[in-house]
Amino acid sequence: MLNGKKIVLGVTGGIAAYKAATLCSRLVQRGADVHVIMTESAKQFITELTLQTLTRNVVYSDTFDEREPSVVSHIHLADLADLVLVAPATANVIAKMAHGMADDMLSTTLLATTAPVMIAPAMNVHMYDHPAVQHNMNLLVQRGTLMIEPSEGQLACGYVGKGRLEEPDTIVDVVEQFFAAKASGNNAGQVSYVSAPAINPMTTQTATEAQLLTGKKVVVTAGGTIERIDPVRYITNDSSGKMGFAVAAIAQELGAEVTLIMGNTQVSPPANVQVIRVLSADEMYDAVLSQWDEADIVVKAAAVADYRPKEVYKEKMKKTGDTLSLELIKNIDILETLGKQKTHQFLIGFAAETNDIERYAREKLERKNCDLIVANDVTRAGVGFGTDTNAVNIYDREGLVEELQVMAKEDVARQLLSIAAERIAGRN
Ligand code: CTP
Repeated sequence: MLNGKKIVLGVTGGIAAYKAATLCSRLVQRGADVHVIMTESAKQFITELTLQTLTRNVVYSDTFDEREPSVVSHIHLADLADLVLVAPATANVIAKMAHGMADDMLSTTLLATTAPVMIAPAMNVHMYDHPAVQHNMNLLVQRGTLMIEPSEGQLACGYVGKGRLEEPDTIVDVVEQFFAAKASGNNAGQVSYVSAPAINPMTTQTATEAQLLTGKKVVVTAGGTIERIDPVRYITNDSSGKMGFAVAAIAQELGAEVTLIMGNTQVSPPANVQVIRVLSADEMYDAVLSQWDEADIVVKAAAVADYRPKEVYKEKMKKTGDTLSLELIKNIDILETLGKQKTHQFLIGFAAETNDIERYAREKLERKNCDLIVANDVTRAGVGFGTDTNAVNIYDREGLVEELQVMAKEDVARQLLSIAAERIAGRN
């Protein structure tokens, strides 16, 4: 899979640097041409000789130690890379990358490269959770850096928690998936987030989880609605549908019978899920109603237009004066209507807000009679429309149920559905 791929591997100074040896060895075994750049701190944990022997290539650490007069090493490495992988990535290198610092061989190469960059952070759990580190990682994700999340477990510092470098075999799998996706034209270079499904406990499917929604019917709405003005014009919004798609995919994985009701989006829905395509809020309402009686869980992740044009012109509207006023009338509030008529259904709403998140979200939960509401601050990096990640607070009538930091939308979906499944089981 990695035959001939040129991978520049940045090794930085955390205890997990010792795993770089295994990582080099696995990458080389799968055919990659690996060029290592170590930071000075990394050399406290593992020697250059080890990595040079495993890769059969010169290992770099000093920007000014130019061993090949015909090239400038950091530019040469930056240019030759098909991928720059930093593993382990310390809080320090993440901060340098986020802020564009170039004070050693690795950070200079990272600034100079135009190749995709993938990082596998590893550090103490409190360092990982620190707002500065989270902020820097968000910045990188926003810029397109691929992230292999650390796993949870016993850390070298004695703590148990998130921060352990993902296993070298998993990192190699993710690298292979990246090149495979690129080769198949899946625009892997645009993927902004990679979690490691096999190992990461947030995404690991346990036997009990697999049973969580067996026998349940889950109805999910996703995407934006389209409200027609005339045959060639309409009003819509920026919803990508990705959050709803993630909920549908994970519900299916957890054993549910899933119906996905999707509006306007540029993204393909998950495979093997039953899909009903709709355009307007009215059509979405009809589609939800057609599934309502049998539904056990209804997840309203769609961005439904609150208003639609009062008049829909049958023919293309012609230009008239210098200004044009469109009169809009209120659409049905699907969630609020469902909330009024719910019997056994477990109703989950979404609230994308820019301010006073908790107040607005809880007010919507009450008004729409939801069981849970998933609120996000769409002004935050890595959150909301179009992204592959989300950070949400989940509320019920009593208040905050769960606060989820920035993570893949699939992971948000898994947590949300687990809470719903638990509560339904509790009722029974
Ligand atoms: N919703 C709905 N039908 C509508 C509007 C919203 O079903 N006509 C649902 C959304 O799918 C979402 C929840 O209601 O689950 C909250 O949507 P939001 O647009 O945030 O709520 P609004 O009540 O429209 O409030 P706002 O004034 O903030 O737009």
